[in-house]
Amino acid sequence: MHVIVVGAGIAGLTAALHARESGHAVTVVTKGRLGDGSTRYAQGGVAGVYGAADSAAQHAADTLVAGADLSDPAAVDVLVTDGAARIAELIARGVAFDRDADGALLLGREAAHSHARIVHAGGDATGAAISQALADAVRRTDTAIVEDAFLLDLLVADGAVRGIRLLIDGVQRQLDADAVVLATGGAGHLYAHTTNPVGITGDGIAAALRAGAAVSDLEFMQFHPTVLAAGPAFLVSEAVRGEGATLIDGTGRRFVFDSHPDGELAPRDVVSRAIARQAVAQGSPVLLDATMLGAEELAQRFPTIDRVTRERGFDWAFEPIPVTPAAHYLMGGIDTDLDGRTTIRGLFAVGETARTGVHGANRLASNSLLEGAVFGARAAAALAAPWPTTRSRPFRSQFTPLPTSARSSNRDRNAEPAEFSRAALQRLMWEQVGLLRTDAGLADALATIRDWRAGVSEPRTLAEHEDLNLLLLAEATAAAALARTASVGAHFRVAEPVEAPGVEAPILETV
Ligand code: SIN
Repeated sequence: MHVIVVGAGIAGLTAALHARESGHAVTVVTKGRLGDGSTRYAQGGVAGVYGAADSAAQHAADTLVAGADLSDPAAVDVLVTDGAARIAELIARGVAFDRDADGALLLGREAAHSHARIVHAGGDATGAAISQALADAVRRTDTAIVEDAFLLDLLVADGAVRGIRLLIDGVQRQLDADAVVLATGGAGHLYAHTTNPVGITGDGIAAALRAGAAVSDLEFMQFHPTVLAAGPAFLVSEAVRGEGATLIDGTGRRFVFDSHPDGELAPRDVVSRAIARQAVAQGSPVLLDATMLGAEELAQRFPTIDRVTRERGFDWAFEPIPVTPAAHYLMGGIDTDLDGRTTIRGLFAVGETARTGVHGANRLASNSLLEGAVFGARAAAALAAPWPTTRSRPFRSQFTPLPTSARSSNRDRNAEPAEFSRAALQRLMWEQVGLLRTDAGLADALATIRDWRAGVSEPRTLAEHEDLNLLLLAEATAAAALARTASVGAHFRVAEPVEAPGVEAPILETV
């Protein structure tokens, strides 16, 4: 069987390695270089279960609570059950997770975990270590690797996937396959402020939507609470708060306790909203105070953050640093069963591209690398199995895009909408489909996005194709958010418009 894996993060590369080890011919297609993508930037680590005090059942319980009762318990069970084998596999493939002097794995703590259970590598460079090890492992096989290739569309005939269309150096190409695994990451660049690397524009999810696959839960975009608010978005890991750092307002008060008894280690959505509201109220970013950890501990445990904060003019061992939320992780995506199968025969989705049901309305920190490894391996194992004739579980929801020619604006407004640009779309999403959402804001955003989609011309360049993907996903996201009238997890409705924190990260004087 010839299998195409589109994407080269932990989920895609795990799927590729397992597929090759099962004897399939494998081609990995990636928009950038092998090992590029969001995985490389993951800081916190991989959630596991270690020590007598912790258990898979408690990891599952924490995941379900964080997911606000919208996770699929069967998917969560798979995650925590298969997780140990996948972490062992990463170690066997060469990922050197950090250990103490006796050789035991060092375990970090992150928000909403009942135990310290996060394994990490290079302090805060876990994703880079994983990307490197998996990319090296793939290169040691005879897997075909196609880099700098943009996924244009899926080829589907008689309800089954037959291959993909690609754009390489401005030229369209076709690759045939018996199965396609989509692992293209999320869609952080829907938003003006994101932790996602350049190129994360939802290409796999958009292609699946165009092909008619079921896609769910796009309204659940997770905003990470702490991105350095000085210069281009740079993540400051939740593990820093896990080690004891606090969030303070302009007067030095720990304001997150006003929103949740767990303060800085409350669920991520709660902390992000508390920060956004406080930043708008005080007219400047809130501060993350890690000074109590001391220079030596900060440099050793968080070498990447230590370096970048210093490059940006802060000495975080002696002064609090300004932070702001940013779009981080898409909980929704292409609807899959417990083996990564989508609703199109032969098409699989894994990692952030997929909606496996693990994350519900709010992902538990450090469950994403684990999910990528677990479901990447399961999808590969399912390649040769007969395609089921019935679904193992119902879909949560489905968005069906209309052809752009069918659109006409019925929006009541006095002024013409702003002209489309990617920046205008990202700002609209940040302000109206962001952390705090109103009915009117969502409806207005949806109408504007539909106008823009109707007006764009046939894409020719890679950037224009990305723009079309972003517009399609923006429409699906705004529609899903409008349809979900009650607040849950990362989707938070408010009655009155609330100003979003500024997106131009201010270059601050060091405080
Ligand atoms: C972080 O290091 O804070 C990010 C971890 C995650 O998103 O799971």
